[in-house]
Amino acid sequence: MRYGHKIIALAIALFLIGTNGAIAADELPIPADEFVFCTTCHGVQLMGNELIKAPRLSGMDAWYVEQQLQSFKNGWRGTHENDISGMEMQPMAAALKDEQIAAAARFTHLTQSPQPLETVSGNANKGRMLYATCAACHGVSGEGNQALGGPALTDLNDWYLLTQLMNYRDGSRGSHPDDTYGMQMRASIQVLSDDAAMLDVVSYINSLEGSLE
Ligand code: HEC
Ligand code: HEC
Repeated sequence: MRYGHKIIALAIALFLIGTNGAIAADELPIPADEFVFCTTCHGVQLMGNELIKAPRLSGMDAWYVEQQLQSFKNGWRGTHENDISGMEMQPMAAALKDEQIAAAARFTHLTQSPQPLETVSGNANKGRMLYATCAACHGVSGEGNQALGGPALTDLNDWYLLTQLMNYRDGSRGSHPDDTYGMQMRASIQVLSDDAAMLDVVSYINSLEGSLE
């Protein structure tokens, strides 16, 4: 299974290297031909695909998409042996030139899909208390804080939020010494003492409204 995924990832990466890249900002169609292949994993309009653990990305802030694609490309993210899903994404970003990363981020921001369904249930009241420490970097309404590198949390799949919290806790994300943002997040996870606390905080995030764009 793991091996099969790697072959698919490699095939797509090779396909990417063969394409020549740059598209002008004002000519960006949805979906941009160059980035249609992103939808093979992330779904139509990047609406997410739980089956292969590829999260919803629709409308995501371009600065954060860029931050993460660079993080994958640099090998800060998606290289830990326990990070199976991250390893599927890593070669996709590694094959992109910097200008393609910027274009992919613009494309991602322009995609639209309905809000994701809720799949996680915990105690949102307890989660509210826990979220108080998160708000500094992710915003009181979960709208994100670019100055601190903290992404919006409201438009993401809840199952993905949960997996990422566990990844930071286990060190499969945010432990590379050059990954400043990842390490800051990893340090902040300490307040979530067990799985129940993670379920609770994600349930509370489900109730937030984000930036109401
Ligand atoms: C082979 C499948 C696959 C393809 C193709 C793919 N992705 Fe991904 N992507 C994933 C998976 C799986 C994850 C979740 C990784 C994790 O759990 O850490 C992910 C994660 C991401 C993230 C991180 C989101 C976040 O909230 O931090 C971004 C951004 C992203 N992908 C953008 C893209 C873009 C843009 C493309 C096209 C250039 C693309 N992906 C193509 C599978 C894929
Ligand atoms: C000191 C600032 C800071 C605090 C406090 C903080 N975070 Fe973060 N968080 C970040 C940064 C920066 C990132 C992006 C890290 C990266 O690049 O991997 C992040 C990423 C995340 C992600 C991954 C999102 C994605 O799209 O992949 C989740 C989930 C998350 N934080 C949840 C939380 C929760 C829940 C709390 C409170 C318990 C919290 N954060 C507290 C800064 C913070």
